[in-house]
Amino acid sequence: VQGDDVASEWVIGVIGGSGLYDIDGLEDAEWVPVASPWGEPSDQLRIGRIAGTKFVFLPRHGRGHRIGPSGINARANIDILKRAGCTDVISLSAIGSLREELPPGKFVVVDQFVDRTVGRERSFFGNGMVAHVSVAEPVCPRMSAMLADAARKAGGDVHEGGTYLVMEGPQFSTRAESLLYRQWGCDVIGMTAMPEARLAREAELPYAIMGMVTDYDCWRDGEAHVEVDTVIAQLMANGDIAKRLVVELARSLPPGREASPIDTALDVALMTAPDKRD
Ligand code: ADE
Repeated sequence: VQGDDVASEWVIGVIGGSGLYDIDGLEDAEWVPVASPWGEPSDQLRIGRIAGTKFVFLPRHGRGHRIGPSGINARANIDILKRAGCTDVISLSAIGSLREELPPGKFVVVDQFVDRTVGRERSFFGNGMVAHVSVAEPVCPRMSAMLADAARKAGGDVHEGGTYLVMEGPQFSTRAESLLYRQWGCDVIGMTAMPEARLAREAELPYAIMGMVTDYDCWRDGEAHVEVDTVIAQLMANGDIAKRLVVELARSLPPGREASPIDTALDVALMTAPDKRD
């Protein structure tokens, strides 16, 4: 179901992680309840305009941070963003660092994932309609580049590229796990980007993610292991840049949206015969 804008106009969905329960600069903003056949989304959508472009914000954990990583209904969240007419989705998320050179405060434009989540619903397909979308390149390069530019303009120290280990949580990792993820070549760690990114691809929504490093997890000698206090303190320090980043992105969007190959990801993914689909 499409919203009121034509597909050639940008409508940017913004999923805010821990610490981000609203965004700045939204004109004529209102909270809009949107129902989904996939169940309860995290919250209502905060819909408005920034620099003339429609923005649709969803706090991933719900206002007041009520929903833990394993309880997020990512299918409903992606579904309502699609229903609201979003053409593209960005995620702004707190992450831990697995690399010396990605200290707290750094903004990382993640481009790969290792998904270690268990027991989360991870597909819209499988019953009556089977599809296998490619997630070989799980993020949208166009939106990732725009996010990186916007974060720089907002004053962020940006690193482009990086592999995000998605863990189930809610507990943080053991030191052995943290060291193992480093050996696997992962750069940052968090609990929420999957299955969100997979589902965005199934919904043909180009997805990009800006990770905000809050801590060094627990692998680093001489560094206190991560605690919620550390995460919150660093998020507060980064919060202004994260909010300005959205405004900078709005200002830098080219007028008129060119189609992206991700818009048609399902064209090459459906297995079920056309006359057998429901
Ligand atoms: N989110 C922020 N820091 C994290 C960490 N160290 N592990 C998992 N998720 C996180």
